[in-house]
Formats: sequence, C-alpha cells, structure tokens
Amino acid sequence: MKILITGGAGFIGSNTAKRFIDSGNDVIVFDNLSRKGSKSNLNWLKKNGNFSFIEGDLRDYELVKSIFSENENIDVVIHLAGQVAVTTSVENPREDFEINALGTLNVLEAIRENYNLEPLEKNNELLKDSPFLIFSSTNKVYGEMEDIEIVEKNNKYTYEKYPSGISENTLLDFHSPYGCSKGVADQYVIDYSRIYGIKSVVMRQSCIYGYRQFGIEDQGWVAWFTIASLLEKEITIYGDGKQVRDVLFIDDLVDCYVMAIENMEKINGKAYNIGGGSDNTLSLLELISLLEKFTKKKITPSYSNWRPGDQPVFVCNIERAYEEFGWKPKTSVEDGISKLQKWIYGNKDLFI
Ligand SMILES: NC(=O)c1ccc[n+]([C@@H]2O[C@H](COP(=O)([O-])OP(=O)(O)OC[C@H]3O[C@@H](n4cnc5c(N)ncnc54)[C@H](O)[C@@H]3O)[C@@H](O)[C@H]2O)c1
Repeated sequence: MKILITGGAGFIGSNTAKRFIDSGNDVIVFDNLSRKGSKSNLNWLKKNGNFSFIEGDLRDYELVKSIFSENENIDVVIHLAGQVAVTTSVENPREDFEINALGTLNVLEAIRENYNLEPLEKNNELLKDSPFLIFSSTNKVYGEMEDIEIVEKNNKYTYEKYPSGISENTLLDFHSPYGCSKGVADQYVIDYSRIYGIKSVVMRQSCIYGYRQFGIEDQGWVAWFTIASLLEKEITIYGDGKQVRDVLFIDDLVDCYVMAIENMEKINGKAYNIGGGSDNTLSLLELISLLEKFTKKKITPSYSNWRPGDQPVFVCNIERAYEEFGWKPKTSVEDGISKLQKWIYGNKDLFI
C-alpha cells in the first residue's frame, strides 16, 4: 500500500510509520517538524528504513493538494498532524484552529479535488475510489460531562454508574479551543464520508503513551512524569492526583490503525473510542508509585490548584471497536509503563 502519514515525525506518527515501513509499504511522511522531538524521530526513522519525507505545513493548501497530485494512488491517509496541547490552544486559539480544523479540511479538500468527488446522491451509494482516511480525534469531544456522577474509591476517582466507561453515544460537547478545533475536524471527516463518499474513520483517542513520546508538562503526562523522574525535575500535580484516565500503549494504537485498514469498508464513516478502556486506567498517584517501583527511587511531587476543565475521571468505553472490527488493547498498564520507562531511561541523551 501507499500510505501518507501527516504528522509522521511525531510520537504516534513515527511509531505508525515504522510499523508500515517494516511491513513493506510505501510510506510518505509529511510533517513541519514543529514539535520538539520530531527531528529526532525523523532521524530515527531514516536510520531504520526507506520512506519519502515531505517537510511542509498542513495550513498550506496548495502544498497539501500537490502531495496527492504528485503521488498517484495513495491508498491510505493517516492524519495525525496537529496542535496537540489544550494549554497552547487557550493561548493561541487562532493558530490551533488553523492547524487542527482548517488543516483537516485541507486534507479532505485535497482528496475531494484530486479525486474529482461529486456529492453522493444517496448515502448508500458505492464508496468512491478515494484513499481511506484515518483521523486521530480525541475524547475531548465529549467535554466535561458535568452530569456524570463521580465517586472516590481506593484513593482514585471513578464513575458511579459507568463501569465500562463513556461510549460513543455520549453527547458531543466541545470544550476548550483544542476540543473545538479537533471536534470540528472530527465532524468534517464524518460528513465528507456522508456527502462525498470519502472512505474514512474517526478515532477518538484517549491518553496514548509509549516510545518516542517527548511529553511535556502541558501534554503527554505519562511520558512527562517519566522524563521528569529521570532528569530529577520537579513533578507538579495539579489537583489531588486522584484523577484517572484510561491509557493506551502505542503498539496497541498502531494495531488499531492496521485493523481499521483491514476493515475499511465496514467501518467507513464511523467514529470509535480508542483507549485503554476500563481495564487500563491510571491515576496520577498510581503512576508516581509505578515509577518509584521501577526506579527504586522516591518521588516527591509538589501540588498546585486543579487546572480549569480538568476532569476527575475520563475512561472511554471501547466495546464498539471490538464488536465492529475486533480491536482491543493487549498491553497492561504495568507492562506499558515499564517499557516506556526503560526506553526513556535508555535514551537519556534525547531528553537533555
Ligand atoms: N498522544 C495522545 O495522547 C493523543 C490523544 C488524543 C489525540 N491525539 C492526536 O493524535 C495526533 C498525534 O499526536 P501525537 O501525540 O503524536 O503528537 P505529536 O506532537 O508528537 O505529533 C504531531 C506532529 O504533527 C506535526 N505538526 C504540527 N503542526 C503541524 C502542521 N501545521 N503541519 C504539519 N505538521 C505539523 C508536529 O511536528 C508533530 O511531529 C494529534 O492530532 C493529536 O491531537 C493524541
């Protein structure tokens, strides 16, 4: 297959690119290398296989369009490039919108124009001969879910009534500029499938963690805590540390993309929650304990006020993905964090 990966030098992108290069596909990585760590990820990819690299910005429509006109027969587009931090989106909402919302529209429009897609007459008309698009959305599209009851059990928060987590039937409720820009993109991708027949799927991802993740305090907390523990930088917990997220190891996410491609006709036009689910949850305090166990060193975090909009719990229900295309995570939290910790500690030079 010929596979275009936007944001292919990022954390998820470089892991995804590596998998598809290793399995013999023709991979094109597109990235503007704006994220700290992207250049290092790109160099790592270059050392480990053959692929094409296009340096450029998603906001440049003519450039995005030219990728499709100059590379015929792209089978799959995995669209990962994006502005990824909520805090940055609050500081610069226009830039966030332009990258996430307009940037995604640019990808959709580039496909529509290059493949001369006309509006479909009926929703069930045969799918057009366009690339299959996988879009990495976020669980932030469900907003704060203030009505859902939360209780504290075993020093961490949990849902009172949703043991399997939050499903895709939950009302969309975009909060924060990041939530809005990703949510807009999420809905455009679904609509372009409906209106123009672009084959696509939306993955509403929870916290992803793993190799080649350059987490910072504002984004990628699992990697950030691990990096900070290595560099002996202060870890600040905003709130009481009992906040819980479902977390997914990167290899499981890449499996999900592979399985989505295998099932593209079946899942076209749909959105799926993709995360660790209720079997793979982690509180901030639990992560600190795990890191202490692995490194045999005491970690003393400092505490600060809750960040606005920080949910006490977010755990997604991932049953639909299993029922409809057979995907579920394989890596336990303890194994995944152990792998991440070993990778970070074994690559100290990347972080100093
Ligand atoms: N990591 C997570 O936990 C998580 C969770 C939910 C959703 N997502 C989504 O998955 C995608 C990938 O996330 P990630 O964690 O790998 O982030 P990342 O920052 O490591 O990767 C994003 C890549 O996009 C590139 N990029 C940014 N702006 C660009 C632009 N204007 N043009 C071209 N390239 C640009 C960056 O240089 C970077 O290499 C993002 O869209 C993110 O919103 C990630």
